[in-house]
Amino acid sequence: MLQLPESLLGSISYEEFLRDYWQKKPLFIKNAIPDFESPIDEHELAGLALEEQVESRLVMETGPNGEKWHLENGPFKEDRFNSLPESHWTLLVQAVDHYVPEVAALMEAFDFIPSWRVDDIMISYAPKEGSVGPHLDYYDVFLLQAQGSRRWQIGGFADDKTPFIPDVALRILQEFDAMETFVCEPGDLLYLPPQLAHYGVSQTDDCMTWSVGFRAPSADEIVTSLADFIGESLCEDDRYKDPDLTLQAHTSEISDEAIARVKAIITEKLSNEATIKAWFGRYMTQPKYHDQLIAAEKPLTEAELIKEMAQGVVICISEGSRLAFSEAENGLLLFADGDGFDVSVADKLILLRLTEQKSLDESELYSSSNDFIGIILELLNRGTLYLSD
Ligand code: SIN
Ligand code: CO
Repeated sequence: MLQLPESLLGSISYEEFLRDYWQKKPLFIKNAIPDFESPIDEHELAGLALEEQVESRLVMETGPNGEKWHLENGPFKEDRFNSLPESHWTLLVQAVDHYVPEVAALMEAFDFIPSWRVDDIMISYAPKEGSVGPHLDYYDVFLLQAQGSRRWQIGGFADDKTPFIPDVALRILQEFDAMETFVCEPGDLLYLPPQLAHYGVSQTDDCMTWSVGFRAPSADEIVTSLADFIGESLCEDDRYKDPDLTLQAHTSEISDEAIARVKAIITEKLSNEATIKAWFGRYMTQPKYHDQLIAAEKPLTEAELIKEMAQGVVICISEGSRLAFSEAENGLLLFADGDGFDVSVADKLILLRLTEQKSLDESELYSSSNDFIGIILELLNRGTLYLSD
């Protein structure tokens, strides 16, 4: 099992990190996890990249036809790994935390950031000189060196308008000026805020880097998704009305009064806090891969659940499932994998237990109301939760 220190940030407190670094500037923590030993090796990582449902990529600095920066998407055939050059390539496997509980265990160390901001843990493996080129990400990322060593060069902040190398499937920066350099060894951690240009190059033949990524929806995604959510509950007769219409000088003019009527509808529908809350929790808990949520073939009944729990079985959260909650006017809202459930205030402790301890045993479950047990049963049958002995 992973041996995690009390804090990953060394002498920097969580408050200090959030105030001075988070979304602002990079932070390098030497030996953040002392004696770190990766619970997964390159063979297991390559094994995951053979699987149909796992998202993986291979980046080669020079492609099979001599082209610069070549990208291949998985799943891969086993013999692909036998025909790779000695150096200058990287295998990247997304969401390894969904498949390897020992990797998922690292997330506990990031509890100082809201869990619904987490995207996944991507793991890269590279022989000497392997790299994905200088680039920027739109996500905050903590780069944990798991094995071997990698030299990270950090540039300035960049954006969509910064020129990328043309005709390459990867968004590699055309120009990159290193302003800081860190050499990461096992257990070292580097935090990078979004849009900071960076360039990591493997220094050894066994370089493995874990990227703990945090997602943030774009304004486009927020507006589009919120509008879709609200639209579903609106009826046909709720529409633009103008009983205050007065005679216009020009029949084809869209007057400021007309715009004010439309704006009033937009403001009324889109800025209701309770609606935003109901949508945002659902949106931020949507699973990264919807098809990986496995619903029960034969739904479990309450009687069966009671029997199982009496035998010492515990309720756990499926790897890759997302839970969050909000305080609501008359209780709480529990969000789970893109859906929402009303929970009474009396069940707050048990809800916190589930979302923070990430498991429930028999006595904990029976301290909750029948309604909450009903929600648990529903989440077990949807695949958000599972029973483990
Ligand atoms: C890598 O692990 O090689 C790349 C990670 C990143 O820069 O985002
Ligand atoms: Co990156």
